[in-house]
Amino acid sequence: MAISTLDIKINQTTNSRIQQLDQANIQFGKLYADHMLVAHYEHGEWKQPEILPFGNLSLSPATTFFHYGQAIFEGVKAYKDVHGNPVIFRPFDNWKRMNRSAERMAMPDVPEEIFVEGMRALVNIDRQWVPSTEGTSLYIRPFMVATDEFVGVKPAEKFMFMIITSPAGPYYAKPVSIFVQDKFVRAFPGGIGFTKAAGNYGASMYPTMKIKEMGYDQILWTDGFTHKLVQEIGTMNVFFVIGDTVITPELSDTILAGVTRDSVLTVLREKGVKVEERQLSIDEIVAAHEAGTLKEAFGTGTAASIAPISDLTYQDKHMVLPPVEQWKTANWLKQELGDIRCGRKADVHHWLFKV
Ligand code: COI
Repeated sequence: MAISTLDIKINQTTNSRIQQLDQANIQFGKLYADHMLVAHYEHGEWKQPEILPFGNLSLSPATTFFHYGQAIFEGVKAYKDVHGNPVIFRPFDNWKRMNRSAERMAMPDVPEEIFVEGMRALVNIDRQWVPSTEGTSLYIRPFMVATDEFVGVKPAEKFMFMIITSPAGPYYAKPVSIFVQDKFVRAFPGGIGFTKAAGNYGASMYPTMKIKEMGYDQILWTDGFTHKLVQEIGTMNVFFVIGDTVITPELSDTILAGVTRDSVLTVLREKGVKVEERQLSIDEIVAAHEAGTLKEAFGTGTAASIAPISDLTYQDKHMVLPPVEQWKTANWLKQELGDIRCGRKADVHHWLFKV
């Protein structure tokens, strides 16, 4: 089904909440823009999407996703460019990843037109909500849930795709303190670790709560067989700078193919930095720390962008990294990606999608 922006039904609010947006004090995920997009899938096809005022939903308590978690999401950001126009960063990459998640979770593909053009129309109508201060953005949350009214266990036949948006400031206020997890597991081969399925995040809550009680901020997840190979950090991909090499775990079905991860790899390679995507053991990280060659460690993700790590604790080893102000790679990446997103640097990869 070919849908253009003209096929989106628009019901614009007459009661904007834009005065609630305080550009100087934006917290992540607290305030939502005026509108949302909704599209329903029924009888094997997507119906006409609708943009309507942000508001509550009314759903049967028997709705499938409440019970069995057939639910996936994405995270995308829109920025104000140097001319004050909103641009969306790499939405086609998120669209493709959403459909990889959908396939694994037995959900229908979301057409590009609904995902990308729907997003463009939504950001356009709420363009005043895209903040312009340094380090801020409009966080865009597309998601899809199964909406059959049926508590029997089977792949659903009805689905709802939605997009909501929220002005966003920094996700982490300071560098994160990391506990290297060697008991709980985030992802197994053959599982859903490579998807943005809601269940991946739900399953991480208990282990994360436990390490927060111990004073850490996030978990460095390791593989479930040896508890040695590092996978991801919290909700982000992870990078280590050892000597002059930047290392990140190679993609597999246990690792999310992060769009920020890919952007980081791309700009580092272009700069001529030595980059390796490969298996990385916690023992190698400990040895590098002991040898004084562990220079930097950071997470990457849409929400947090580049999140520096202050220290890592693995069993009885407590590894403190050099002060972030001395880092070269992460600080350069933050600046470089910020410059590209806001149009201060040429968009040679065509990552910016005009609204
Ligand atoms: C993102 O970076 O977009 C994420 O998915 C993290 C999110 C769970 C807050």
